[in-house]
Amino acid sequence: MTPGLVTASYIGATILFILALGGLSHPESSRRGNLYGMVGMGIALLSTIFGVVTANYPILIGGMAVGGSIGLVLARKVQMTQMPELVAILHSLVGLAAVLVGFANFMDPTATVDLSHSEKVIHQVETYLGILIGAVTFSGSVIAFGKLSAKISGKPLLLPGRHWLNLGLLLAAIWFGKLFLDQAATGAGIEPLLLMTVVALLFGIHMVMAIGGADMPVVVSMLNSYSGWAAAATGFMLSNDLLIVVGALVGSSGAILSYIMCRAMNRKFIAVIAGGFGTSGGTAAAATPGGEVVAISAEETAALLRAAKNVVIVPGYGMAVAQAQHTVNEITKALRGKGVNVRFGIHPVAGRMPGHMNVLLAEARVPYDIVLEMDEINGDFPNTDVSVVIGANDIVNPAAQEVPDSPIAGMPVLEVWKGETTIVLKRSMATGYAGVDNPLFYKENTRMLFGDAKESLDSVLKSLTSYHQM
Ligand code: TAP
Repeated sequence: MTPGLVTASYIGATILFILALGGLSHPESSRRGNLYGMVGMGIALLSTIFGVVTANYPILIGGMAVGGSIGLVLARKVQMTQMPELVAILHSLVGLAAVLVGFANFMDPTATVDLSHSEKVIHQVETYLGILIGAVTFSGSVIAFGKLSAKISGKPLLLPGRHWLNLGLLLAAIWFGKLFLDQAATGAGIEPLLLMTVVALLFGIHMVMAIGGADMPVVVSMLNSYSGWAAAATGFMLSNDLLIVVGALVGSSGAILSYIMCRAMNRKFIAVIAGGFGTSGGTAAAATPGGEVVAISAEETAALLRAAKNVVIVPGYGMAVAQAQHTVNEITKALRGKGVNVRFGIHPVAGRMPGHMNVLLAEARVPYDIVLEMDEINGDFPNTDVSVVIGANDIVNPAAQEVPDSPIAGMPVLEVWKGETTIVLKRSMATGYAGVDNPLFYKENTRMLFGDAKESLDSVLKSLTSYHQM
């Protein structure tokens, strides 16, 4: 492939990646967005393999075959509810690749042979930054994987003087950077590079360990952003324009997503990335609510829904676990057929990944125009006859407003309790992801429909349809 053709392919791939990001901004266009991304990545790979790499094809093809097979098996096996863990571990691989490429490039005597003195210094700074961001991304993502898959406790690890520890690690990274640049001028520098890598790995571990359960969405999107910047730094190091552009696209879109998440969670961006800033030491136990829990049957639920004029459905992670979205759609159709105004209220961090509920509802073909964001629906709960909470917990927890030292204090929630009756579908009285007890379950106008959400909703649907046929 000629250099001109490689450049043209890179421009084509870049345009496709931008179209992919645009497509992913709405469920309706997300499939198309994914397709653009896949075609763009195919073009990027082929033009790099045939136009940029000129030797070592057996190693390249062997590596791609092993990596591709592992990716294929993982992608086929992964459950929808395990996607966030998969994303976290994939981010860690981007970080690890940046670290390994950085070291390999530093140790390659031919990498800087044609560069002037100032170009060499810039190259060394790129190498240092690539390894630094890559190492933070790697260890932070491994811990995020552990927390999301419940292999590590979701509780924040709040070490005494943790902000001083972070500051110390930052100063150490800057100091080793100075030593590295001094020594690299004489052809040495591997020791400060290795020491900085250890510091960056420790920082990544400490940063994510300090994050509480409900703030994990922000951290995952932030690590996504870091992985992009690590790739961009590697692109500068390898003088690969496409890697720079793709890294910058991932880095900036991840940063924008983190910012949106922070706003949705009412958290300060700097506070979250500094690791647990503003995370109160408040314990869930301090907020343990009391009172009576009133259970309801599927038949009684169907009767309430039949009598309602306005119904709001609030789906959460439990709907994804139960795979109840298709039954939800059938119930929605049955109620709308009887003239009931059914709408959905979607919390920005419902489920375990951004847009999780929108994807499930789109898969079940729930019409988009009745699926509303939290801000659009929250004011309507006082006029709602029945709110149906399907496998959601943290996102409808009034403790966020009522308990100042709660770990979720200040997080905006869907105010379902303001409606006439709230029906909560879950299997037990267990807490949600943030591990916080939920006073909603004890409110006078709340009824608990215990059981697996799919089974409960199947019974509700049966009761609704058999009544209509009578
Ligand atoms: P959660 O607070 O995790 O609550 C889900 C509830 O679903 C649980 O209390 C569980 O109760 C119930 N459940 C589980 N399986 C069920 C089944 N088969 N049938 C019926 N109920 C079932 O979920 P949420 O309200 O959607 O809130 C999301 C939480 O995850 C937030 O804390 C958020 O910060 C965090 N998070 C979100 C993301 C993103 S980006 N969305 C990423 C990471 C973390 P039982 O066990 O009693 O059934």
